[in-house]
Amino acid sequence: MTLRVLPGGRDQGGPGLLVRGAAEVVTMTGGLRRGASQDDPAAITADASSGGPTGPRAPAVAAWGGRIVAVGPLDEVTARLSAEGLDAERFAVVDARGGMVTPGLIDPHTHLLFAGTREGELRLRQRGAGYLEILAAGGGILSTVTRTRAASAEQLHAHGRRWLDEMLGHGVTTIEAKSGYGLDVETELRLLEVLGVLGDEGPVEIVPTFLGAHAVPAEYRDRPDGTEAYVRRVIGEQLPAIELQGIARFCDVFCERGVFSAEQSRRILEAGIRHGLAPRLHADELAPSGGAELAAELGAVSADHLAAPSREGMAALVRAAGSPHPVVATLLPATSLYLMKERDAPGRTLIDRGVPVALGTDFNPGTSPTPNLPLVLSLACLRLKLTPAEALAAVTINAAHAVGLGETHGALEPGRVADLVVWDASSHEVLPYWLGADLARVVVKGGAVVLARG
Ligand code: NIG
Ligand code: FE
Repeated sequence: MTLRVLPGGRDQGGPGLLVRGAAEVVTMTGGLRRGASQDDPAAITADASSGGPTGPRAPAVAAWGGRIVAVGPLDEVTARLSAEGLDAERFAVVDARGGMVTPGLIDPHTHLLFAGTREGELRLRQRGAGYLEILAAGGGILSTVTRTRAASAEQLHAHGRRWLDEMLGHGVTTIEAKSGYGLDVETELRLLEVLGVLGDEGPVEIVPTFLGAHAVPAEYRDRPDGTEAYVRRVIGEQLPAIELQGIARFCDVFCERGVFSAEQSRRILEAGIRHGLAPRLHADELAPSGGAELAAELGAVSADHLAAPSREGMAALVRAAGSPHPVVATLLPATSLYLMKERDAPGRTLIDRGVPVALGTDFNPGTSPTPNLPLVLSLACLRLKLTPAEALAAVTINAAHAVGLGETHGALEPGRVADLVVWDASSHEVLPYWLGADLARVVVKGGAVVLARG
C-alpha cells in the first residue's frame, strides 16, 4: 500500500491520519489504572526485531473520521486499513521521526478563567503569611473576584485563548475548567458561557465545572451568618441558573476548614446532583477537613489536592477504590510547590493502597500559575515518588476518568477519540526527565493535526 506523506502532516486533507516512525507508542489501553496497573503504560516499542522506528513492524497509530481505528506494528495496521476498505490515499501521514507517541494529555483540574494577577502574594508568603490568612484579609481569591467581575466576556475570552494555546503547546488536548471567580450568579454564568465558547472553538476540549462555592464573597463576609447565607444563595439561586444555562457538567466546592465545611459542601454537592451536575471537590488541600471522606460518601468522580487527608479520609478512598466507581485522587503537586509547603499529597501511598491517581496543573492566579502539565509530571516523579509510567497514566487514562471521559478519551484504542501527541523523546521515561522543557512536536485532536513544530 502506498502512503501519501505530507510534511509534518500539516496539510491534512482526508479523513484519515497515520502516525508512523515512532520509537514507542504508549497506548494506555486497559482502562482505569489503580495499584500495580498504574505502572503499566501498555507501550509498544520499536526494538531490533521490529526493525527500529523506520522498520516494517515499528509501532503505528491510524485514525479515521476522528477516531482511532488501529494501533500496532505498521504492517498489521496497514493490513487492517485495507481490510476495512479505507483508502490509503485519504490518509495524511505524520512521521514521528523516532519520537514517542502518547494519548493527548488531559488536565483534570484548572481554573482557566480569571482576570488580573497576584504576584504580590508571593512576597507576603515568603514573609510567612498563610494562604488562608491572605484570603481572610480580603486578598487571595477575593482580589481575583473583584477583577473578574469587572472583566468583559471578550477580555475573559482573550485570556482563556492565550493560556489554552500554551497548554496545547505542552501536548494538552482536553482540560477541565472551573468557574469560581464570580461568586455571583451573573459572573458565574459569564465564566461558564466563555468556557463553552472556547471549548466549541477548540482545538482544546473543555469540560466545564461550576465552582460557585470557591470562597464566601466580600458582600457576605461581615454578616455573622455570612457563610451560611452564601451557601443558601449557591443552592437557591446559582445552581438553578447554572442548570438552566446547561453548560456545566460538574459541581465543585472548596471544602476546607475555614472556607466551606464538609457539611456545607455536602449540601451544595447534593443540590448540584439534583440539578444534573456530578460532584467533585477541592478536598483537604491545607488541612484534614473531611473532604476525602465526603468524596467517597458521595461517589464523587474526583477528589482533588489531598495534600493533607486524615487517616479516615485515606481509608475511605481505599474502600471506594474497590467499588465499581472509584473516586480518582487528582493530585496537584505544582500547588504544594508554589505554596512552599513541605508536605505533598501522599501520591506513593495512594497508589500503593490501590487508589487511582490523576495529576493536574490547578492552573490559577494564586496557588499555581503554570499551564505546563508535563512539568507537573516531573514534579510527581520528583516529589510524590511516582514512576514515569504512573505519572503518564495520571495525565491520560486516569485524568480522563477524573473528568467523566473515561470511556472515550485518554487511550490509543480503536473506537476512542483520536487525540495524541508526538514527543521529542525516545521513551516515556524521557518525558518527566526534562524539567519544564517543550517536547511536544505534533499534537493531534480528533484525528486532525492541530500543532506541528520543527
Ligand atoms: O485549587 N483552593 C482553592 N482554589 C485554588 C486556588 C485559587 C486561588 O488562590 O485563586 C486551588 O488552589
Ligand atoms: Fe483548584
